Amino acid sequence: RAAAAEPRPLAGRSVVISAGGTREPIDPVRFLGNRSSGAMGVALAAAAHAAGADVVLIGANLDVAPPAGVEVVAVETTAQLRDAMLARADADVVVMAAAVADYRVDGVADEKRSKESWGDAPTIVLSLNPDILAELARAPRDGLVVGFGAETEPDDEALLRRGREKLARKGADLLVVNRVGHDAGFGDVETRIRVLDASGVVADASGSKASVARAIIETIAERLPAPSA
Ligand code: CTP
Ligand code: CA
Repeated sequence: RAAAAEPRPLAGRSVVISAGGTREPIDPVRFLGNRSSGAMGVALAAAAHAAGADVVLIGANLDVAPPAGVEVVAVETTAQLRDAMLARADADVVVMAAAVADYRVDGVADEKRSKESWGDAPTIVLSLNPDILAELARAPRDGLVVGFGAETEPDDEALLRRGREKLARKGADLLVVNRVGHDAGFGDVETRIRVLDASGVVADASGSKASVARAIIETIAERLPAPSA
């Protein structure tokens, strides 16, 4: 006999999720990057798909395989991620789970740098990247905008305070706070997340990335405005 069908609270809804970490080129063969594997965003995409959503995963340099049944758009740089997200800002739900490079490299070299051209003590000059989450939150929209706040802050009070500040600064509807470090948050390990809205903590979940992703998707589904006619 078939098992009872799983609830599909996101049936008919469009969900766009960024995952992974953006890379900023220095020259044709080098980049500045970060250690994000994309596992959290990929787990969210899988959970959203299981909940019945039409999911687009904007994958920045993913180290993990994307889930089946999900449309994947591969990007590398923050500028490419921004274009891909803003083009889909009218989705019912947009989630910025990607670790976005805060800075890009000024004057990217067209040719591979050599020690001769670079010298003994080269400097790399950086410029601030646009804040994609804040831009999505400012865009005219009916949907829900969800951000992540990955922090290494060991003190829980301070972690949540930073999360509340980040939520307010970005203007997102929800912010998922999680602690990251050398042994927490990156890679396949036990994760604890809290979801914040303007009123405070609205969800608290621990476990595998798959299980916290389900909790996050449930929280999002509960808060989604009814479909517009
Ligand atoms: N984010 C973004 N665009 C950026 C930087 C961050 O969209 N240029 C998004 C991330 O995807 C995440 C959220 O903003 O959803 C918070 O990212 P985080 O790095 O914690 O915040 P920052 O504002 O960059 O603050 P910090 O100085 O602490 O890095
Ligand atoms: Ca940042």
